[in-house]
Amino acid sequence: MFDNIADKYDALNHRLSLGLDKKWRCKFVINLSGKNYKTIVDLACGTGDVLKELEKLNAEKYYAIDPAERMLEHAKQKCSNADFIISTAEDIPLPENSVDLITVVFGIRNFDDLSKSTEEIYRILRKGGIISIMEFSIPKFFIFRWGFLLYLKLLVPLSGNLLPEQKKAYKYLSESIVKFARSTDIKSVFETKGFSNQGIVKLMLGSVSIYTFEKE
Ligand SMILES: C[S@@+](CC[C@H](N)C(=O)[O-])C[C@H]1O[C@@H](n2cnc3c(N)ncnc32)[C@H](O)[C@@H]1O
Repeated sequence: MFDNIADKYDALNHRLSLGLDKKWRCKFVINLSGKNYKTIVDLACGTGDVLKELEKLNAEKYYAIDPAERMLEHAKQKCSNADFIISTAEDIPLPENSVDLITVVFGIRNFDDLSKSTEEIYRILRKGGIISIMEFSIPKFFIFRWGFLLYLKLLVPLSGNLLPEQKKAYKYLSESIVKFARSTDIKSVFETKGFSNQGIVKLMLGSVSIYTFEKE
C-alpha cells in the first residue's frame, strides 16, 4: 500500500497538514537533542523526512528501515549518510544491544504485531538507549477532538487527484489513526516490555503526541 502512494506521499503530507508536518518533525528531533548518540535507527522511515532531520544529531551511524521499497527509494535521494534496510519492525536485522536511539514517526500504528515489534526494539537497544515515537492522538478536550475527527473524515475528499488505489491508502491512513488511538495505550505497551517513561509531549492541541522511553 505504501509503495502505491510513495511518489505522492511527501506532497500530500505537506498539503494536508498545511506544512505543519515539517515543524512537527523538527520539534521531534529538537526534543532528542543534547545527548550523544553513536547509532540511530529510523524505523518505518518512509520517504526519509525524519531521517533528514536526525542527521543534525551527528551520530556516527544511521540505519533507515522500512518494508516499502519505493518509500525507501525516496529516502535514499534525501540522505546519503545511512544504511537502508528493507524490513519490518517485527524482525529487525540488527544485533542486540547495538543501538543508542530508535525513532518511529507516524509508523507505529502500521505495525502488524506491536508486541513483537516492541520486543525487537528492546533487543537492539543498548541499556539506557532511547526509543522515541511520534504518532497522532485524539485530543482530550471535546471541541478539539470534534475538530480533529471532522478533519480526518475530510482527509480523503481533500486529498484530490488520487488514483483509486491511492484513495484507498489515504482512507486507510485516516481510519487507522482513530482505530489505533482508541485501542492502544502506547505508554503501557512500552512500560510492560521493560521501558521507563521519559515523558510525553503534546503538539497541535493534543492531536499529535511524542512519547520517549528508555531501556532500563
Ligand atoms: C505514514 S508512513 C510514515 C513514514 C515516515 N516515518 C514519516 O514520518 O513520514 C508509515 C510507514 O510505516 C511503514 N510500515 C508499514 N508496516 C510496517 C512494519 N510492520 N514495520 C515497519 N514499518 C512499517 C510503511 O511502509 C510506511 O513507510
